[in-house]
Amino acid sequence: MKSVKKLPLTDQCHHWTHLGEVPWDLQKYWQQRYTIFPTYDDGIYMTEDAWYGVTPEPVAIYLVYDFVGFISPRKRTVIDMFAGVGGNAISLAMATEEDGYTPRFDKVIAIELDAATLACAQNNAAIYGVESKITWVLGDSFKFIELLTQSPSELEEDLRVDLATTAIFASPPWGGPGYKTDEIFDLSTMEPYNLVTLHEAYKAMDHALYLPRTSDLRQIAKLVPDNVKIDVVQYCVEGASKAMVAYIPAAVDGPVGDTADQSMS
Ligand SMILES: C[S@@+](CC[C@H](N)C(=O)[O-])C[C@H]1O[C@@H](n2cnc3c(N)ncnc32)[C@H](O)[C@@H]1O
Repeated sequence: MKSVKKLPLTDQCHHWTHLGEVPWDLQKYWQQRYTIFPTYDDGIYMTEDAWYGVTPEPVAIYLVYDFVGFISPRKRTVIDMFAGVGGNAISLAMATEEDGYTPRFDKVIAIELDAATLACAQNNAAIYGVESKITWVLGDSFKFIELLTQSPSELEEDLRVDLATTAIFASPPWGGPGYKTDEIFDLSTMEPYNLVTLHEAYKAMDHALYLPRTSDLRQIAKLVPDNVKIDVVQYCVEGASKAMVAYIPAAVDGPVGDTADQSMS
């Protein structure tokens, strides 16, 4: 698996400037474009699917503060498993130490399965001046983790990161029916990757999961032993929750000894 340089925008990548250009089912999302990306008019590109899943910038920025507080200062690399059009990868790449200048992460790896979506992410990151600070991977992030943990020599050198100094951020597709209407969303039915699938893949490292706001907290709590606590934070925009994030420390019996605080509340 290799990192990729700049991919071309395709005809699946759009920068709509008038309501009339926008498919009817996306119009309500496009109306919120300045909340999602305040820099929209600078040339933000989206795929049609990306409108449903992108993390709004205010949430992405705030979330990075929590993420950085959750992981140990030793974690200098972050992997964004589902980069989409860059909503989170951009904020992670822009994160600084308290001096407001030194980058918080030495390396940000952003993985995305769909080439057109990744091209949008690279375009959008360039608007924020962080395109070259991100290592872009076009491919399956589960395959990436498998290679990283089991046969790192199959990854090119700049992707062979040290698990002990790496944390994971994952905003998977929520897919399937029901997450909008269910009072409590059953994370075992989340498609195409359910909660346990995600956690099993990431548990060797501290990881943050960006999940539907009504996700079943009992299912999240069951991922870890009773003496380990998970922080769960709801992120709101204009008073309405957009999502919850579960901050899950690395399993103590995993290959990584340096976990985040094991007694979080
Ligand atoms: C909810 S979106 C991520 C949104 C992103 N956080 C943003 O702000 O733009 C999920 C993304 O994961 C991608 N995806 C799905 N399965 C994947 C996989 N196995 N590996 C990498 N990317 C995947 C989809 O193409 C989609 O763009």
